[in-house]
Amino acid sequence: MTWDILITNIKGLAQVRDNTPSVLAGSAMAELPVLENAYLAIADGKIADYGEMQSLANPSADQIIDAKGRFVFPSFVDSHTHLVFAASREEEFVMKIKGASYAEIAAKGGGILNSAQKLQRMSEDELYERSLVRAFEIMKTGTGAVEIKSGYGLTVEDELKMLRVARKIGRETPLKVKTTFLGAHAVPKSLTKDKYIQLVIEEMIPAVAEEKLADYIDVFCEEGFFSPGETEQICEAGKKFGMRPRIHANQLHRSGGVQVGVKLNAISVDHLENIGEEEIKALQSSSTIPTALPGAAFFLNLSYPPARDIMNAGLPLAIASDYNPGSSPSGNMSLMVALACVKMRMTPEEAFNAATINTAAAMEILETHGSITRGKTANVCITKPIPTLSYIPYSFGAQLVDQVIINGALIG
Ligand code: NIG
Ligand code: FE
Repeated sequence: MTWDILITNIKGLAQVRDNTPSVLAGSAMAELPVLENAYLAIADGKIADYGEMQSLANPSADQIIDAKGRFVFPSFVDSHTHLVFAASREEEFVMKIKGASYAEIAAKGGGILNSAQKLQRMSEDELYERSLVRAFEIMKTGTGAVEIKSGYGLTVEDELKMLRVARKIGRETPLKVKTTFLGAHAVPKSLTKDKYIQLVIEEMIPAVAEEKLADYIDVFCEEGFFSPGETEQICEAGKKFGMRPRIHANQLHRSGGVQVGVKLNAISVDHLENIGEEEIKALQSSSTIPTALPGAAFFLNLSYPPARDIMNAGLPLAIASDYNPGSSPSGNMSLMVALACVKMRMTPEEAFNAATINTAAAMEILETHGSITRGKTANVCITKPIPTLSYIPYSFGAQLVDQVIINGALIG
């Protein structure tokens, strides 16, 4: 057997599992299996084999990568992004530094409406080109699968435009992409909320479904945006077209978003900066995956989700980037893992599990992604020489992912 790529002398092959669990919850999150002095073989875009170096007999491969002193782990799965957007918003960043709150900026026509205005004026081709740059940026920092939301269009045509761009990224790059319709992200100035909800339900959802542009439906369930009742109404409409809900919940207030997410059988509820015992209790009676977005909590200077309480309650926890121009202008998952460790007191093992297996579960791609398992898609990160895997979150901000293989091909 000749493999396409053989990685040898791996100091530690992390997240290696012969059988993948469905999701990692509670104390199971603390265990990250690592095979020392290992090899990994790739063929036809899949993980063909792995094991200890001493068991590697007569290796034959088109390309051999010597990973002496390096760790190899499955590429990150980023289950919550707004990767498709027109332009950055660093002017609001400066306003925030000077004391304006997220809600105040939004009320002044900044925030999501600012991004929508810029996106509405941009052609689909240019939007694609700009988003493609970000897609390669995140691949190079180790992301191999990504969820991408709409929500900066806010008109039928512009929401479709965003989702077409997201789908094209999935077709034209090695990234595994799942898409989410987030028409209910904000209410445009030209319409009342009731009229806009009507537009979302009666026109946007059917049009998105017609072109098969979205796998999921999301709502920004938040005071000043959409209430739990409205969230339910919109998600129920999406469900009729096969879009399973995933919800922006409890970012700025205890908005009831978690409870409505559980009621809707959402695949995940994301943000969770403002949750307590009630929300945790609701999650315990569900299969909804709580997801923290530490980049957004960091950037907006918010409190962080109570990760330890969530895990102590026997729940899973996923970590995603929320890459977007307003509240988390970074899609660097190593940094998200570092923030999870430093600010949410997760161990590196818990954080790596949260950003690989649990986000893969939250994207419903665990059969193919999230772990080093025979037959799964060959999506792996090779680090620079480092002493331990914990060194990655420890030296936060450093780019320690050196080489990335996605779908069995090295990303240049
Ligand atoms: O996930 N919370 C809502 N949406 C984004 C931010 C959107 C923006 O400010 O552009 C988020 O944080
Ligand atoms: Fe978000």
